[in-house]
Amino acid sequence: MALRFEASYPEGLCPGWSVIVKGETSSNANMFEINFLCNAGDQIAFHFNPRFSDSRIVCNSFLSNRWGPEEVTDTFPLKEKEPFQIEIYSDPDYFHVSIDENKILQYKHRQKQLSAITKLQVVKDVRISSMEITKRGLY
Ligand code: GAL
Repeated sequence: MALRFEASYPEGLCPGWSVIVKGETSSNANMFEINFLCNAGDQIAFHFNPRFSDSRIVCNSFLSNRWGPEEVTDTFPLKEKEPFQIEIYSDPDYFHVSIDENKILQYKHRQKQLSAITKLQVVKDVRISSMEITKRGLY
């Protein structure tokens, strides 16, 4: 697994926080992942996985040692070798994901305790130019 970026937030994610990832996909991009990890074990509260091969974005959680049901988009606003901005904003109920300022999906929290989400990770075919966490407040 090609790790591109990892950051720890020991106090955990809070509702109203927003993560903005800016980067560029590689020329022969196959897929990349943005993972919101929990402090305990290998749990993934939110796995955001654009797959270029079939132009789909697969979202899921890896909790209790297994993947849950996938939530898949039929819009795919990413292109190979193009810059992008992905914003993942969390309110008490959902992650809201926008690409280049267009909302593309929301994902209902399966890991309900947001403060247990303490690590952010980006892996595979992508170059990250910046990663920013901001408290936007709820809206
Ligand atoms: C699997 C894949 C995992 C993850 C999961 C999401 O097929 O191996 O990396 O993307 O799907 O449901």
